[in-house]
Amino acid sequence: MSTPPAAVPFLPFALPEIGDEEIAEVVAALRSGWVTTGPKTRQFEADFAAFLGDETRGSELHCIAVNSATAGLHLALEALGIGPGDEVITTTHTFTATAEVVRYLGADVVLVDIDPATLNIDAKQVEAAITPRTKAIMPVHFAGLAADMPAILAIARRHGLKVVEDAAHALPTSSGGQLVGTLQSDATVFSFYANKTITTGEGGMLVTRNAALAQRAKTMRLHGMNRDAFDRFTAKVPSWYYEVVAPGFKYNLTDIAAALGIHQLRRAHAFQRKRVELADAFDEALAGLPLLLPPRAPAGDMHAWHLYVVRLADDAGIARDRFIERLFDAGIGCSVHYIPLHLHPYWRDRYGLRPEQFPHSQRAYERMVSLPLYTRMGVDDVQRVATAVRQALGAE
Ligand SMILES: Cc1ncc(COP(=O)(O)O)c(C=O)c1O
Repeated sequence: MSTPPAAVPFLPFALPEIGDEEIAEVVAALRSGWVTTGPKTRQFEADFAAFLGDETRGSELHCIAVNSATAGLHLALEALGIGPGDEVITTTHTFTATAEVVRYLGADVVLVDIDPATLNIDAKQVEAAITPRTKAIMPVHFAGLAADMPAILAIARRHGLKVVEDAAHALPTSSGGQLVGTLQSDATVFSFYANKTITTGEGGMLVTRNAALAQRAKTMRLHGMNRDAFDRFTAKVPSWYYEVVAPGFKYNLTDIAAALGIHQLRRAHAFQRKRVELADAFDEALAGLPLLLPPRAPAGDMHAWHLYVVRLADDAGIARDRFIERLFDAGIGCSVHYIPLHLHPYWRDRYGLRPEQFPHSQRAYERMVSLPLYTRMGVDDVQRVATAVRQALGAE
């Protein structure tokens, strides 16, 4: 009797890489008794500043750990005084978190189209969307490729606007040779969600050079109290004393999560090199197919390669949804980044948006597929995906 061939395992779209060091540090946090914000969170913040600062001539960066990038974006805008009557410009081609935080504060979101070459916010469209109510611009470094920061920062300077970078995909990414997080914006926010380039399960980091912004964000991170739990239990002033200065939020990171972050951060550059290797392997394996391959970073700049997004060419001969089904049938997980905000009922109806206002995002959305790319994959997995792609396109 012959045994049936072993099923080829499903290749998920994303998987975190958690090592023994991370696990040991989490266990140490659990054993220490400090399970919420404490010494490991402090260390993670200091390490993050060193990670960015090492490459920026040691300039003063404040790094504020939070329990999500969404929280960090909210805190940054709040600290900048964004509120009712204000407008914030961002890209339609993003996750809803980028825009929803503007609505938390009662301000309005102004969505603009992307540059089809990079899938990043189009700086020309940003300038055209400025009104007397505009207060801030929120670029997103889509897929880990830096947005056009020189142009966006110049527009912000000309019009007296704030800039908050959504760097959820961008660790590590550079622009003009400088790491995202160290540019001349008002704040930059990273995500450590499970599928990001480094993960703490859930988590984020708000980075700013502005000491007043940092102070406000730290206070609002924990209920508007003027000191956090670690200070309360270890400083010399009475341990029970605190003052509430504003109705703040509950956005602090736990030491259990920070324990993961400390070791993930140490691997961030090695992870990025692995992602580059996989992206290069994809580019080579998919060359010549009716696909638009992802844009590369300019020479000398770093692409975090959070996502590897291909777009079906007009002559691909298959619709995007069917293409994804075929890959799924071949055991390959895929995703779509993103269903643009202008297509979601909330954003569409609130602002009366139509796809014709965003032709580049709309066109990209209809053709785009994110293929799996993560550090636990090998080049053999890339070959497997590429074979499935060729078969789905009928090219094999
Ligand atoms: C572009 C973008 N911004 C913001 C977020 C929110 O990140 P978090 O889940 O850490 O709140 C995400 C997460 O997927 C994202 O992709």
